[in-house]
Amino acid sequence: MLKIDDLSVEVDERDILKNFEMSIGDGEIHALMGPNGTGKSTLSKVIMGCPDYVLKSGKIYFNGEDITDLEVDERSRKGIFLSMQSPISIEGVSNSEFLRTALNARSSEPIQLFDFIKMMESNMQELDIKNDIVHKPINEGSSGGERKKNEVLQIKVLKPTLIILDEVDSGLDVDSLKVVCNNINKYREENPKVSILIITHYARILEYIKPDYVHVMVDGKIVKTGDYDLALEIDKTGYTEWVNL
Ligand SMILES: Nc1ncnc2c1ncn2[C@@H]1O[C@H](COP(=O)(O)OP(=O)(O)O)[C@@H](O)[C@H]1O
Ligand SMILES: [Mg+2]
Repeated sequence: MLKIDDLSVEVDERDILKNFEMSIGDGEIHALMGPNGTGKSTLSKVIMGCPDYVLKSGKIYFNGEDITDLEVDERSRKGIFLSMQSPISIEGVSNSEFLRTALNARSSEPIQLFDFIKMMESNMQELDIKNDIVHKPINEGSSGGERKKNEVLQIKVLKPTLIILDEVDSGLDVDSLKVVCNNINKYREENPKVSILIITHYARILEYIKPDYVHVMVDGKIVKTGDYDLALEIDKTGYTEWVNL
């Protein structure tokens, strides 16, 4: 589904991603772990097509198609979703306007208002989100945890095929973390071809969403790949083994 080939990215004349390589197959769950500042969020934003980053080399393929030069909205419509580490608030755009517009942009017929309301209500109930957020501006006045739940609401409505979760557990209390992970697991059970890239520096979230592969990223590239046991090892020993290479 996703192939990243020899990707090098520079920010403010500093190399952040260095000949980065990664492949994610249909239905696979990959965890990307690494200390602060190694370029994990940069990678997620570059996959999504954020224009702040300069690509020095490399290609990104999605379902075999070269998407390296596509705009963010084109990547989104193709089925890539990024749940950001720190979701921003957007004044003047309500959640319902945003989601209906995004939904209509990816289907040939506009969704009927009644169907939209019904779908929103059941998704909000499953996420334990208060119904009144529908008419509120996106994330305005929301806590960190509420923002993360809103990202998952967007996933449930927009139905992406590749989900990138950047530190989705940050700012979540343990009950909200369970709700968020249960909803992501349910979405994936209903859509078994969906692939997930979980970016995290703690193994805790991987107890809830079990990865097929775990990658350790240090200084802009992957230094080790393993399975879930690698995440448990990192929880005990940290990243020092790789940081001091
Ligand atoms: N838009 C940006 N402008 C300037 N520096 C940035 C920007 N994005 C990332 N960086 C720098 O790139 C490095 C990697 O950051 P980031 O990708 O956020 O790391 P991680 O998510 O692994 O903690 C950091 O040193 C950070 O300061
Ligand atoms: Mg980050």
